[in-house]
Amino acid sequence: MILVGFMGAGKTSVGRALAGELGWIFEDLDDRIEQREQRTVAEIFRHAGENAFRRAEHSALQELLRELTNQSERIIALGGGAFIQENNSRLIEAAKVPTIFLDADVDELWGRCSRQMEALQTERPLLGSLENFRDLYESRRPHYRKASFTHSTTGKSVSEIAAEIVRRLGLHSKSRKRGDSH
Ligand code: S3P
Repeated sequence: MILVGFMGAGKTSVGRALAGELGWIFEDLDDRIEQREQRTVAEIFRHAGENAFRRAEHSALQELLRELTNQSERIIALGGGAFIQENNSRLIEAAKVPTIFLDADVDELWGRCSRQMEALQTERPLLGSLENFRDLYESRRPHYRKASFTHSTTGKSVSEIAAEIVRRLGLHSKSRKRGDSH
Protein backbone atom coordinates (compact mmCIF):
# COMPACT_ATOMS: atom_id res chain seq x y z
CA MET A 1 0.00 0.00 0.00
CA ILE A 2 1.31 3.45 -0.92
CA LEU A 3 0.56 6.63 1.03
CA VAL A 4 0.47 9.88 -0.93
CA GLY A 5 -0.39 13.45 -0.04
CA PHE A 6 0.97 16.90 0.62
CA MET A 7 3.74 17.86 3.04
CA GLY A 8 2.49 17.48 6.60
CA ALA A 9 -0.21 14.94 5.64
CA GLY A 10 1.35 12.36 7.99
CA LYS A 11 2.50 9.91 5.31
CA THR A 12 5.55 8.85 7.32
CA SER A 13 4.06 8.87 10.81
CA VAL A 14 0.79 7.21 9.76
CA GLY A 15 2.78 4.78 7.59
CA ARG A 16 4.88 3.71 10.57
CA ALA A 17 1.80 3.36 12.78
CA LEU A 18 -0.01 1.32 10.12
CA ALA A 19 2.98 -0.94 9.60
CA GLY A 20 3.24 -1.45 13.37
CA GLU A 21 -0.45 -2.23 13.63
CA LEU A 22 -0.41 -4.71 10.75
CA GLY A 23 3.03 -6.21 11.33
CA TRP A 24 4.06 -5.08 7.84
CA ILE A 25 7.32 -3.49 6.70
CA PHE A 26 7.42 0.32 6.47
CA GLU A 27 9.45 2.17 3.91
CA ASP A 28 9.85 5.88 3.20
CA LEU A 29 10.86 6.70 -0.38
CA ASP A 30 12.79 9.82 0.71
CA ASP A 31 14.94 7.63 3.02
CA ARG A 32 15.75 5.33 0.11
CA ILE A 33 16.69 8.34 -2.03
CA GLU A 34 19.00 9.63 0.72
CA GLN A 35 20.68 6.25 1.06
CA ARG A 36 21.16 5.86 -2.69
CA GLU A 37 22.45 9.40 -3.12
CA GLN A 38 24.41 9.52 0.15
CA ARG A 39 23.04 12.96 1.00
CA THR A 40 19.84 14.45 2.39
CA VAL A 41 16.86 15.52 0.28
CA ALA A 42 17.58 19.14 1.26
CA GLU A 43 21.18 18.79 0.08
CA ILE A 44 20.07 17.33 -3.25
CA PHE A 45 17.71 20.30 -3.76
CA ARG A 46 20.41 22.76 -2.73
CA HIS A 47 23.29 21.37 -4.76
CA ALA A 48 21.65 19.70 -7.74
CA GLY A 49 18.19 21.31 -7.96
CA GLU A 50 14.63 20.00 -8.04
CA ASN A 51 14.93 18.32 -11.45
CA ALA A 52 17.85 16.22 -10.26
CA PHE A 53 15.86 15.32 -7.14
CA ARG A 54 12.90 14.23 -9.30
CA ARG A 55 15.18 11.98 -11.37
CA ALA A 56 16.61 10.40 -8.21
CA GLU A 57 13.07 10.01 -6.85
CA HIS A 58 11.86 8.28 -10.02
CA SER A 59 14.69 5.79 -10.12
CA ALA A 60 14.36 5.02 -6.39
CA LEU A 61 10.64 4.37 -6.94
CA GLN A 62 11.39 2.12 -9.89
CA GLU A 63 13.82 0.13 -7.76
CA LEU A 64 11.37 -0.13 -4.87
CA LEU A 65 8.47 -1.28 -7.06
CA ARG A 66 10.68 -3.92 -8.69
CA GLU A 67 11.28 -5.40 -5.24
CA LEU A 68 7.58 -5.78 -4.50
CA THR A 69 5.91 -9.12 -4.99
CA ASN A 70 2.21 -9.90 -4.80
CA GLN A 71 2.65 -11.00 -1.23
CA SER A 72 4.52 -7.87 -0.22
CA GLU A 73 3.15 -6.64 3.05
CA ARG A 74 4.63 -3.18 2.85
CA ILE A 75 3.50 0.33 3.60
CA ILE A 76 5.33 2.85 1.45
CA ALA A 77 5.31 6.60 2.12
CA LEU A 78 6.08 8.83 -0.87
CA GLY A 79 7.40 12.39 -0.68
CA GLY A 80 4.74 15.04 -1.38
CA GLY A 81 5.70 15.57 -5.02
CA ALA A 82 6.27 12.00 -6.13
CA PHE A 83 2.70 11.02 -7.07
CA ILE A 84 2.29 14.29 -9.01
CA GLN A 85 4.93 13.27 -11.54
CA GLU A 86 3.15 11.38 -14.28
CA ASN A 87 6.01 8.97 -14.88
CA ASN A 88 5.70 7.92 -11.22
CA SER A 89 1.92 7.58 -11.09
CA ARG A 90 2.06 5.49 -14.28
CA LEU A 91 4.61 3.15 -12.69
CA ILE A 92 2.46 2.76 -9.59
CA GLU A 93 -0.64 2.08 -11.64
CA ALA A 94 1.20 -0.55 -13.67
CA ALA A 95 2.42 -2.20 -10.45
CA LYS A 96 -1.23 -2.33 -9.26
CA VAL A 97 -0.35 -1.18 -5.76
CA PRO A 98 -3.30 0.52 -3.98
CA THR A 99 -2.75 4.16 -3.04
CA ILE A 100 -4.22 6.21 -0.21
CA PHE A 101 -4.35 9.99 -0.35
CA LEU A 102 -4.02 11.39 3.17
CA ASP A 103 -5.71 14.77 3.03
CA ALA A 104 -6.17 17.59 5.56
CA ASP A 105 -7.10 21.27 5.63
CA VAL A 106 -4.24 23.26 4.20
CA ASP A 107 -3.97 25.39 7.36
CA GLU A 108 -3.55 22.26 9.43
CA LEU A 109 -0.92 20.92 6.99
CA TRP A 110 0.96 24.20 7.32
CA GLY A 111 0.69 24.09 11.12
CA ARG A 112 2.03 20.52 11.27
CA CYS A 113 4.99 21.39 9.00
CA SER A 114 5.80 24.52 10.99
CA ARG A 115 5.70 22.65 14.29
CA GLN A 116 7.90 19.86 12.90
CA MET A 117 10.37 22.40 11.64
CA GLU A 118 10.69 23.93 15.09
CA ALA A 119 10.68 20.71 17.08
CA LEU A 120 12.73 18.45 14.83
CA GLN A 121 14.63 20.97 12.75
CA THR A 122 13.27 19.23 9.63
CA GLU A 123 14.15 21.00 6.45
CA ARG A 124 11.54 21.05 3.67
CA PRO A 125 12.93 22.71 0.56
CA LEU A 126 9.47 23.47 -0.86
CA LEU A 127 7.84 24.82 2.31
CA GLY A 128 8.11 28.52 1.28
CA SER A 129 5.49 31.00 2.46
CA LEU A 130 1.94 30.10 3.52
CA GLU A 131 0.67 31.63 0.28
CA ASN A 132 2.98 29.49 -1.90
CA PHE A 133 2.23 26.45 0.23
CA ARG A 134 -1.50 26.95 -0.31
CA ASP A 135 -1.10 27.46 -4.08
CA LEU A 136 1.04 24.35 -4.42
CA TYR A 137 -1.46 22.32 -2.38
CA GLU A 138 -4.39 23.50 -4.54
CA SER A 139 -2.55 22.71 -7.76
CA ARG A 140 -1.58 19.23 -6.57
CA ARG A 141 -4.82 18.18 -4.91
CA PRO A 142 -6.55 17.01 -8.15
CA HIS A 143 -3.59 14.71 -8.80
CA TYR A 144 -3.67 13.23 -5.29
CA ARG A 145 -7.39 12.59 -5.77
CA LYS A 146 -6.51 10.00 -8.42
CA ALA A 147 -5.36 7.70 -5.59
CA SER A 148 -7.46 4.61 -4.93
CA PHE A 149 -8.80 6.11 -1.66
CA THR A 150 -8.91 9.56 -0.09
CA HIS A 151 -8.77 9.70 3.69
CA SER A 152 -9.29 12.87 5.70
CA THR A 153 -6.89 13.38 8.60
CA THR A 154 -8.03 16.83 9.76
CA GLY A 155 -8.14 17.03 13.55
CA LYS A 156 -7.15 13.39 14.00
CA SER A 157 -4.22 11.79 15.79
CA VAL A 158 -1.78 9.45 14.01
CA SER A 159 -3.08 6.37 15.83
CA GLU A 160 -6.69 7.30 15.09
CA ILE A 161 -5.94 7.65 11.38
CA ALA A 162 -4.06 4.34 11.27
CA ALA A 163 -6.91 2.53 13.04
CA GLU A 164 -9.47 4.08 10.66
CA ILE A 165 -7.52 2.95 7.60
CA VAL A 166 -7.15 -0.59 8.94
CA ARG A 167 -10.93 -0.70 9.44
CA ARG A 168 -11.77 0.98 6.16
CA LEU A 169 -9.67 -1.41 4.09
CA GLY A 170 -10.80 -4.47 6.06
CA LEU A 171 -7.26 -5.30 7.11
CA HIS A 172 -6.43 -7.19 10.28
CA SER A 173 -4.24 -5.74 12.96
CA LYS A 174 -1.53 -7.94 14.46
CA SER A 175 -3.05 -7.70 17.91
CA ARG A 176 -6.52 -8.58 16.59
CA LYS A 177 -5.10 -11.69 14.88
CA ARG A 178 -3.55 -12.82 18.14
CA GLY A 179 -6.80 -12.16 19.97
CA ASP A 180 -8.81 -14.05 17.34
CA SER A 181 -6.76 -17.20 17.72
CA HIS A 182 -8.08 -18.19 21.13
C1 S3P B 1 8.43 17.30 -1.49
C2 S3P B 1 8.10 16.75 -0.26
C3 S3P B 1 9.10 16.15 0.65
C4 S3P B 1 10.35 15.70 -0.13
C5 S3P B 1 10.85 16.80 -0.99
C6 S3P B 1 9.83 17.29 -2.01
C7 S3P B 1 7.35 17.86 -2.33
O1 S3P B 1 8.53 15.03 1.34
O2 S3P B 1 10.08 14.57 -0.92
O3 S3P B 1 11.22 17.86 -0.15
O4 S3P B 1 7.57 18.07 -3.54
O5 S3P B 1 6.25 18.09 -1.79
P1 S3P B 1 7.37 15.19 2.48
O6 S3P B 1 6.05 15.22 1.78
O7 S3P B 1 7.53 13.95 3.28
O8 S3P B 1 7.66 16.43 3.22
